[in-house]
Amino acid sequence: MKKNHTIIVHLSDLHLGGAYFIPEWGERVVDVVNRIAPDLLVITGDLTTEGHVHEYEQVSSYLNRFTVKNRLVVPGNHDSRNEGYTIFEEIFHTRYPFYTNGYLTLLGVDSSQPDIDDGHVGRTNYQLITSRLAAVSPVKILAMHHHLIPIPGTGRERHIPTDAGDILKLCIDLKINLVLSGHKHLPWIWHLEKTWFITGGTATSQRLKGRSYPSFNIITIYGKRFTLKEVNVATGQTTKKLYASL
Ligand SMILES: [Fe+2]
Ligand SMILES: [Fe+2]
Repeated sequence: MKKNHTIIVHLSDLHLGGAYFIPEWGERVVDVVNRIAPDLLVITGDLTTEGHVHEYEQVSSYLNRFTVKNRLVVPGNHDSRNEGYTIFEEIFHTRYPFYTNGYLTLLGVDSSQPDIDDGHVGRTNYQLITSRLAAVSPVKILAMHHHLIPIPGTGRERHIPTDAGDILKLCIDLKINLVLSGHKHLPWIWHLEKTWFITGGTATSQRLKGRSYPSFNIITIYGKRFTLKEVNVATGQTTKKLYASL
């Protein structure tokens, strides 16, 4: 029977390689994601802590445990430290991954800069975003590490892409449906014009804000509607956060 929905799991900020990564949470994420068997796994950066080779080796072995067929990964500011972006390219082949199944199109862009925590996409990539996401399919998704709109409860605003205004305008002009990001380690949703800006929390690390919890998102798209569920990785509980039109 042909299925009429697409499931995307959105993970972010795994931060393997550092003291804040909790193996038990890592195991739970693998179990839950493999049980869900999504059509696509999207990881919006900060897979490592300092971008070192041994951390990327841990990332590779960890990601090999996910049985999902389609995977789209972009680097975060931590992954680009210490020339880590070169190792990222060796493992993932590109910092600008692309996926389409005709109905849904997803582009990932690298918003990181080597050894700088601030985000930046850059004018040279605006044409790439436009050509990949202009009127190609009913559902268009952009994935990048840095958040484009400030997130409440995360302290003093910093690291937002230096060209966030231009990227926001591109998202609105191209009628991009979803923008997936991470970086702040606290989940949040903004809706601007026709675009939903979904920031994921940290899935597997203790780099948390206050008494918040590790989490990741499950996005299920049915035609032009979608649901967003959040999995609390510490407890395993799933909460429905949103049911809305694209
Ligand atoms: Fe992070
Ligand atoms: Fe980050």
